[in-house]
Amino acid sequence: MAAFVGFATTLLSLFLFQFLLGVHSATFTIVNQCSYTVWPGILSSAGTAQLSTTGFALQPGESNALSVPTAWSGRLWGRTLCSQDSTGKFACVTGDCGSSTLECAGSGAAPPATLAEFTLNGAGGLDFYDVSLVDGYNLPMTVEPQGGTPGVGNCTVTGCRVDLNGNCPTDLKVMSAGDGQEGVACKSACEAFGDPQYCCSGAYATPDTCKPSTYSQFFKSACPRAYSYAYDDGTSTFTCASADYLITFCPTGSSTSLIKSGNGKYPVAVDITGAADHVISSGKLIMVTLLMAVWRFWQQVL
Ligand SMILES: *[C@@H]1O[C@H](CO)[C@@H](O)[C@H](O)[C@H]1NC(C)=O
Repeated sequence: MAAFVGFATTLLSLFLFQFLLGVHSATFTIVNQCSYTVWPGILSSAGTAQLSTTGFALQPGESNALSVPTAWSGRLWGRTLCSQDSTGKFACVTGDCGSSTLECAGSGAAPPATLAEFTLNGAGGLDFYDVSLVDGYNLPMTVEPQGGTPGVGNCTVTGCRVDLNGNCPTDLKVMSAGDGQEGVACKSACEAFGDPQYCCSGAYATPDTCKPSTYSQFFKSACPRAYSYAYDDGTSTFTCASADYLITFCPTGSSTSLIKSGNGKYPVAVDITGAADHVISSGKLIMVTLLMAVWRFWQQVL
């Protein structure tokens, strides 16, 4: 009985310890449910320190939990079809950050890319988050707050669950190179045509003058909660307090064959094992927590 109480106390203190840690920083759990490898990239906003990692690989089914400091702001996206050439230069067909390495190290995504944007502990102590297609789209992604303060903010899942690479309008579509071409990304109208009307620039730089276009409406009808053009704030920005965030690539699994892996179209997909030490499955996390508890338990008993 005493042993059981000791065990329970240990478990409880362990949870309390982890809870207290959570007060100071949010956890971003990044999950790859795509059938292909995704290389997340992370960029902090100007004036905000870069996270301990700014780029890594996630194999299908893998996840990675990152601790994010209070008041962090920045963006996160998924790079696809990445490879390393014979000189060791790392590059991706979509979402490339131009760093030539696995880590983005202060560089952002080349459009088109689906972006998750965060401002943690912003105005009123709220976290602001959104998924943006303003710079185009390259893969399905959702952001789901977890454990936020109840009743504070419109703290719900946002993003784009739909695979738009196949049915992207022809003049926005980005095709893969080589044989057996397929859509790998979908440009914004601003990027495709550079028109101030689509870019909300020049004479169109205010919410009153920049209106949705048939192109932005294509994105909005497919992904109603995502930003489809620069002034889409009302329906696309969400708020939450003291939450953790689950960021999922291909939340419904993936329907298209973005990578027909091993068909030689792209050089061997890079499996950077250097990044593997901070890639952990939730199963392993539970195992480690349990093992720690059991170890502490035996220390008390013996
Ligand atoms: C969520 O709340 C924010 C802040 O109150 C507001 O600006 C935004 O329009 C709301 N978004 C939705 C989709 O209701």
